[in-house]
Amino acid sequence: MRHLHIALISAMREEIGNTLNHLNDISSKKFGDLEIYTGKWDNKTDNFQSIFISLVWSGWGKVSASRAATRLISNSSNEHPIDCIFFTGVAGAVDSKLKQWDVVLADKVVQYDMDARPLFKRFYIPALNLDRLTSSEEWKKKTYSAILNAKNKGLLEEFGSITKGLIGTGDRFISDQNFLVELSKDLNGLKAIEMEGAAVAQVASQEGIPWVIIRVISDEANSDAAQNFSEFLEIYKKNSWDLLNAILLGISK
Ligand code: ADE
Repeated sequence: MRHLHIALISAMREEIGNTLNHLNDISSKKFGDLEIYTGKWDNKTDNFQSIFISLVWSGWGKVSASRAATRLISNSSNEHPIDCIFFTGVAGAVDSKLKQWDVVLADKVVQYDMDARPLFKRFYIPALNLDRLTSSEEWKKKTYSAILNAKNKGLLEEFGSITKGLIGTGDRFISDQNFLVELSKDLNGLKAIEMEGAAVAQVASQEGIPWVIIRVISDEANSDAAQNFSEFLEIYKKNSWDLLNAILLGISK
């Protein structure tokens, strides 16, 4: 039977919550100010001999996220290569139908502040020859069913609806509705914005590792965003493991 190795990245410790309390045989390795934890998740499964979890909180922004993803990948052994990288955390809503606690699973992500015009069209990532990165169909499907099943069983009471769609990443905390309106005109179908997802997606894609980005709405990226975000995070940190647990249970079945 084979092993499963899942990598979990969040920007903040609160978004990883008390995940470490659910792992055994934990070891950690420091790279400067970044600490990567690896442990075993002792959930009985018929499909895998063991489930290894590596986790790290990266810090805010695309540079920190890229650095953490790169370190995470190079820290994994050839014996247990990473099967999929999951980035979870909070996001600001762009789609006005989305409310706090709604979950957005990225179909695609875009670095909305990438702009090398006139040499390339707006949002285009020259290294990948595209402007939107597409998440692994297989892992996304498993993740979506995992969350939906948990929700239907009443295991994710705090959480709202689950939607799939485009998530935008940029080095900016958005608290300006006008900026959002302009951005959504340029990015059809944009659901939510955050500051790390598409950076991790780029690193993972270039390294040939599947990735999944899951975001929970904390604010509406308007003038109340900073306050809503801070208040939400205080509650979310007690629930972030529930979401990760639901995902891990579903994908390891
Ligand atoms: N993450 C959560 N809320 C956000 C916002 N308003 N802007 C950027 N990233 C966010």
